[in-house]
Amino acid sequence: QQPFRIAPSILSADFARLGQEVDDVLASGADMVHFDVMDNHYVPNLSFGPAVCHALRNYGVTAEIDVHLMVSPVDDLIRAFLDAGANHITFHPEASLHIDRSLQLIIDGGATAGLALNPATPLSTLDHVLDKLSMLLVMTVNPGFGGQSFIPAMMDKLRLARAMIDATGKPIRLEVDGGINADNIGEIATAGADTFVSGSSIFAKRNEQDPNRYDSIMRAF
Ligand code: DX5
Ligand code: ZN
Repeated sequence: QQPFRIAPSILSADFARLGQEVDDVLASGADMVHFDVMDNHYVPNLSFGPAVCHALRNYGVTAEIDVHLMVSPVDDLIRAFLDAGANHITFHPEASLHIDRSLQLIIDGGATAGLALNPATPLSTLDHVLDKLSMLLVMTVNPGFGGQSFIPAMMDKLRLARAMIDATGKPIRLEVDGGINADNIGEIATAGADTFVSGSSIFAKRNEQDPNRYDSIMRAF
């Protein structure tokens, strides 16, 4: 298990003041920015693309940007996010015809590569490519929307994923995404996760009374 990191998903941020939202959540202790890209094709929702990532870099965000591609096909957007300043790029194996090639595209572009597994996608999908990953993202909801509930059956999957990663002896992060909050994060960490995405449980709970609006919620994590 790598040192724990919290990656707030800006999918639940206030887009009209996105730069400020990202500054605030980082100032309150977030470790990186999780960037959910949805195309209304691979998932039934539409979010934002590389221009927004680029805009955050221009605005002055220097923190690591963790791009989660929920798009198909993936290769053109991998290239665009490499240009836009992404540090980590994760895609869903079902969305690429040539998984190994897409992973290599990310690595050759200087970012770290991850694969995201939907709740019903088996861990065996990682056979033959695990050694290329810097991160394994176990989806704990079906991708497409913030604010859904953690699927309990994912607890066992996380334990199996942990064992699989440990067997490689490599520092591969185990990221969880979907329905993570201050109440369930402890149990999820015990199951083996070390990198925690959270959207609605952070951004929807901001305290407008606080000068730093995310301090109390980030402390609870
Ligand atoms: C879902 C996204 C998540 C989502 C998490 O498709 O990948 O990152 O924003 O949101 P919460 O924390 O609200 O479940
Ligand atoms: Zn995500």
